[in-house]
Amino acid sequence: MKNSSLHAPKLAPSLDESVRCVHVTSYDRQQPIAQRVAVITEARRHLDNGEVRVGMLAMTINPADLLQMNGGYGVQPKLPYTPGHEGVGIVLEAAPDVTHVSVGDLVLPLAPGGTWRDERVLSARQVTVVEGEVDILQCAMLSANPVTAWVLLHGLAELTSQNCLIQNAANSAVGQCVRQLAAAMGVRLINVVRRADAIDNQRLGDEHWIIDQDLSGTEFAEQVRRLAGGKPIPLALDAIAGQATSKLAASVSPGGKVVVYGLLSQQPSQVEPADLVFRGVSTHGFWLASWFADAQNRATAKTVTPSLLGLLARGDLQMSVAATYDLAAIGTALDHADQPRRDGKVLLTGAWLARLQQS
Ligand SMILES: NC(=O)c1ccc[n+]([C@@H]2O[C@H](COP(=O)([O-])OP(=O)(O)OC[C@H]3O[C@@H](n4cnc5c(N)ncnc54)[C@H](OP(=O)(O)O)[C@@H]3O)[C@@H](O)[C@H]2O)c1
Repeated sequence: MKNSSLHAPKLAPSLDESVRCVHVTSYDRQQPIAQRVAVITEARRHLDNGEVRVGMLAMTINPADLLQMNGGYGVQPKLPYTPGHEGVGIVLEAAPDVTHVSVGDLVLPLAPGGTWRDERVLSARQVTVVEGEVDILQCAMLSANPVTAWVLLHGLAELTSQNCLIQNAANSAVGQCVRQLAAAMGVRLINVVRRADAIDNQRLGDEHWIIDQDLSGTEFAEQVRRLAGGKPIPLALDAIAGQATSKLAASVSPGGKVVVYGLLSQQPSQVEPADLVFRGVSTHGFWLASWFADAQNRATAKTVTPSLLGLLARGDLQMSVAATYDLAAIGTALDHADQPRRDGKVLLTGAWLARLQQS
């Protein structure tokens, strides 16, 4: 679904209408996640100077959103709150003093949190305008996972065609982005997945696969050694933690780094002390939110986002989509997003998507 299929809004939205947003009402994990959310309506308000009203078109449900809804994320908002870290929207209305953003612009909201709603009022400085023709769902998935993949590949080790990178959860959205970006860099990539049908048969660059259903540490390390073909492995990317960390730590080269950026197993990361002591392997955590806290990194992001958007527009960067659900079906959407083996992202859609496609 391309943005060219949308018609620009004809009139500023009426203040008489109300709009929907999702509320999380409890962090109690004893209750099913779908029962801890509600779709509420809220009144529109006038725009203040410098503000834009954005009609949200599509919003991602990411593991981080589920983690936060279960009380285990790095930031836990006061209840009730509106979840969602990513999405794409269209400008419905702009305050008279706003000059660089216009009605009808497709935008990525950069303000933290709260994307699962029909509309957001934001400072015009908090949106990035998307130029050209793009796929709306791909755009909705751009702000977190592709940027994370870019930073993981560029800031942690010098990756070249002379060395090798290993990542687990390679069929995840981050994993898919790492594959596409690593192929462009010419680095050899070893992808680890937990099931055979997660392997993508379309080979991207110099990449290889390991199915880690129940491999022992020794079997795992042996497969890695064979696939690395003698190239050093300075970096491993770990989305899982638990025992997965120790397998990666045993696989990297002496002095190599294991970067834990996800906690999908919900287990403590384990590492053999011999890898730390005798082989000088180090483990690190990575969180995009902390990366963004640095002003220099924020300046870097201003160039990374447009370049990722360019790749996306050319079809050189793509993530799989499992399903889309209207905000009204939030419970079903959350149940789906919480399933293993879902082969892609679950996204929410807002009321303006259908409205602007029909008008
Ligand atoms: N640190 C950061 O700044 C940052 C930024 C973005 C994302 N992340 C993290 O990166 C990870 C991937 O996110 P995503 O949005 O790319 O994921 P995603 O597209 O939603 O895919 C989830 C992936 O996790 C795998 N998985 C789930 N539970 C697992 C387990 N217990 N053991 C092994 N694999 C498991 C799934 O495998 P199956 O397909 O086999 O079920 C699938 O590959 C998440 O932990 C997310 O929180 C971190």
